[in-house]
Amino acid sequence: MQIDLGGRTALVTGSTSGIGYAAAESLARAGATVLVHGRGDERVSGAVRRIREATGADVGGVAADLGNAEGAARIIADVPDVDILVNNAGIFSGMGFFDIPDEEWQRIFEVNLLSAIRLARHYTPRMVDRGWGRVLFVSSDSALQIPTEMVHYGVTKTAQLSVSRGLAQTVAGTGVTVNCVLPGPTLTEGVREFIQDQVGRDMPFEAAERVFIAEHRPTSLIRRLLRPAEVANMITYLASENAAGTTGGALRVDGGLVSTIIP
Ligand SMILES: NC(=O)c1ccc[n+]([C@@H]2O[C@H](COP(=O)([O-])OP(=O)(O)OC[C@H]3O[C@@H](n4cnc5c(N)ncnc54)[C@H](OP(=O)(O)O)[C@@H]3O)[C@@H](O)[C@H]2O)c1
Repeated sequence: MQIDLGGRTALVTGSTSGIGYAAAESLARAGATVLVHGRGDERVSGAVRRIREATGADVGGVAADLGNAEGAARIIADVPDVDILVNNAGIFSGMGFFDIPDEEWQRIFEVNLLSAIRLARHYTPRMVDRGWGRVLFVSSDSALQIPTEMVHYGVTKTAQLSVSRGLAQTVAGTGVTVNCVLPGPTLTEGVREFIQDQVGRDMPFEAAERVFIAEHRPTSLIRRLLRPAEVANMITYLASENAAGTTGGALRVDGGLVSTIIP
């Protein structure tokens, strides 16, 4: 299967690191013009340079905090139109249910959910006018298995499934597809730190990863963390013409972690 995104423009939110960075690089390799996004100019321009060097693609960048409406408005002002929107930016904070104050619920709701809604609300009608578009939400296995140490995070990830399905139904028959991708635990810098905190820093990371999976994620069928590129592969496929038959879906890239056959 050839994936050719030549002539398409893609915005990946939260793409200075982790899954978003891998997705931006993968979309650029497939020929898309890519817009990298993060909060600060320095990290954005660093990621733009690295992806340009790695792929030779046309890569631009935009910086804005998605914790408020102004941030989404800034992105829209800088980048009025895209063919592919990957709502990837997301944050988490480990807190027991009784300790999560309103402000933290609001912060995580703004970044993980409302910012994605704001961007989808702007870009999707333009895709519909052109008769082609892709909207993707990067959700999580936590949408299906709510973690008790971060219920607020799980709530935003489950809500993304509803938003995605509702939007897919709204644009039925237009050539625009809307889907959710549900990664399982993925080896990003934040997750590396988290595992070393959990398992101990004296162990080589490969051993710490095995212990973490065995003790904390025993249902993983691949018995390891996902790699960001593996999640990026699914995002790139769904962004392509090849995936025109898939919409309104929730696709897992979780190494079999969630013990269900469907979705
Ligand atoms: N890693 C995992 O194990 C895992 C598993 C399942 C689902 N996910 C989901 O996958 C997505 C990416 O996760 P990741 O682990 O790859 O993330 P990451 O490495 O922590 O990167 C987060 C990205 O989001 C940006 N960001 C953070 N706060 C922001 C804000 N307030 N406004 C705008 N941008 C902001 C960061 O940019 P700057 O720091 O440059 O501003 C960075 O580019 C998230 O939606 C997450 O919930 C991750």
